[in-house]
Amino acid sequence: MRFALSAAFLLLAACNPGGEGLMEDEEVIVSPILTSEDAKDPATFAEPEVARVTHVALDLALDFKAKTVGGTATLDILAEPDADTVVLDSDGLRIAKVTDGEGHALPFTVGERVEGKGEPVTVKMGAARRIAVTYTSAPGAEALQWLAPQQTAGGKLPYLFSQGQPILNRSWIPTQDSPGIRQSWEARVTAPKPLTVVMSGLRVGEPADAGEGRRAFSFRMNKPVAPYLIAIAAGDLEFRALGPRTGVWTEPAMIDRAAKELEDTEAMVAAAEELYGPYRWGRYDMIVLPPSFPYGGMENPTLTFLTPTFLAGDKSLTGLVAHELAHSWSGNLVTNANWADSWLNEGITSYFENRIVEKVYGRKRAEQEAALSFASMEDAIGELGSDNMVTALHLPPDEAGPDAGESAIIYDKGASFMRTVEHIVGREKFDAWLRQWFDSHAFQPATSALLLEDMHANLVKGDAALEKKLALDAWVYEPGLPDNVARPEAAAFAGVDGAAQAYAQHGTLDAAAWGAWTTAERLRFLSRLPKKLTTAELAELDRTLGLSASGNNEILFAWLELALANRYQPAVPVAERFLASVGRTKFVRPLFEALMEQGSWGEPIARRIYGKTRSTYHSVTQGAVDKVVGWDG
Ligand code: BES
Ligand code: ZN
Repeated sequence: MRFALSAAFLLLAACNPGGEGLMEDEEVIVSPILTSEDAKDPATFAEPEVARVTHVALDLALDFKAKTVGGTATLDILAEPDADTVVLDSDGLRIAKVTDGEGHALPFTVGERVEGKGEPVTVKMGAARRIAVTYTSAPGAEALQWLAPQQTAGGKLPYLFSQGQPILNRSWIPTQDSPGIRQSWEARVTAPKPLTVVMSGLRVGEPADAGEGRRAFSFRMNKPVAPYLIAIAAGDLEFRALGPRTGVWTEPAMIDRAAKELEDTEAMVAAAEELYGPYRWGRYDMIVLPPSFPYGGMENPTLTFLTPTFLAGDKSLTGLVAHELAHSWSGNLVTNANWADSWLNEGITSYFENRIVEKVYGRKRAEQEAALSFASMEDAIGELGSDNMVTALHLPPDEAGPDAGESAIIYDKGASFMRTVEHIVGREKFDAWLRQWFDSHAFQPATSALLLEDMHANLVKGDAALEKKLALDAWVYEPGLPDNVARPEAAAFAGVDGAAQAYAQHGTLDAAAWGAWTTAERLRFLSRLPKKLTTAELAELDRTLGLSASGNNEILFAWLELALANRYQPAVPVAERFLASVGRTKFVRPLFEALMEQGSWGEPIARRIYGKTRSTYHSVTQGAVDKVVGWDG
């Protein structure tokens, strides 16, 4: 039996745990957990087979002065009848007390800290199946970034946002922080006026006066979600509807630009539904955050979090939105049981993203983006070595920490796998299979083994010749690139690659051609330039193509990376401005790396800039760059 609890689903009608979040007639789904060896999560202290959290009810206050959140988390627990303890995850939480549902104190211990994992909190719950934890987060809680007014577009009010994935939420929520332990949740959060609080669940009612110049905001998520998907943001926020079930939150100064860039969102949701079935989360809203957000996007349910660096003015970087939206199926509906299988979230999503882009923006753009992704994968496998196990989709235990994995493998090789299967079995069959996968595993965790089992049962169906052609095990468990891989259409970049070759051979630069290219074509061109360039060549490139002045952050980043790797002094102030205004790890880390690789020229520049910018970065970005520049406080 794969599932603990013999029924695959337990439907508890309107049990309305811990608050008023649920409507009378709503059903709460309690998801099963997987108990197979490959589904175990070494990154949690929880013992879900003994006792697990099924619902979290938060009652919290945001304290912008102390930079803490505090209050109570009331947890509903599903446990073996004789179980009398439950183990939670914590990272620096200050726990004042734990009580049962009636307010009687329960004994608890906070265990020893394990680096990269936090501390276990073991509660002697006895016969209680609801416990309330009264706590405060630490001021340095890793999931949270508290921004000073100067770090916002408006410049007047503070701002807060969280980032839960992969295992940061234990720094502000005392629960079982593992993607295989799904939990429904509700929250009441107070914040000082005039700040607005938003969360990754549907809003309940209007904000209420909470006294002392504060307002209370209520939310609920009645679907069981992986706990890394509980997210919060608070700031000077305005909402703009984009369509009947889509909209965007951001600071007033950004709202027009954001709404314009995101105007295709409703069409994307429709495209996604046409591909792989109904959108099951009610609303699809987004929040465009301040530029210190450490990722491009984060698929928080009902409320995708986005970097403002994707705002290019021409919708050329909205593949990001397609990506986060696709996670509403791959990731949020069907979720990797542990971080060794994050390709199940990110790889399938990257494939799905491309299919949405094809439907909304057409085949040419989709093929070009797929070709860029393919090239990153090939480059990465070339660099890492095709016998290196980090190039396998499923990461073996010694490679599989929560932060492990190369994005060119997890995202790009994962997408390439899906595309290869699609090409072999045909689009119609493949789409029917993928839709079936989402439907039959909805609100459940999954592993690589489970996916392959499902492919065998519902796609291969005993066809030995097809089985051989697909090479499924090689794709998932072996390093390198299987030779059945579906390659991108050669035509995708034929013109651009010709232009890059002409530049390398004869130094010809065609400004008019560049002007007519798509963003993907420009990125391809920059990636195909010779790695070593002289100061004169760099100056000409910059002058002719207007690279330093590009309003497209992907292009600006690609240019700066190339320029710094060639010790191009005029790019330093441009890079410094960029690094002072943007905290997205994907941009920031490689630029510091490029500088550090230039020894006596770049190292002092990197240290000087980082000394000024470090405090403006989220802990995720700080952690990544600290390693690069050898920062030790
Ligand atoms: N879920 C990821 C972000 C993430 C991954 C956070 C792992 C923490 C750990 C998100 O969906 C993502 O992939 N973002 C990309 C977007 C891009 C691939 C379009 C990013 O941030 O760059
Ligand atoms: Zn993703």
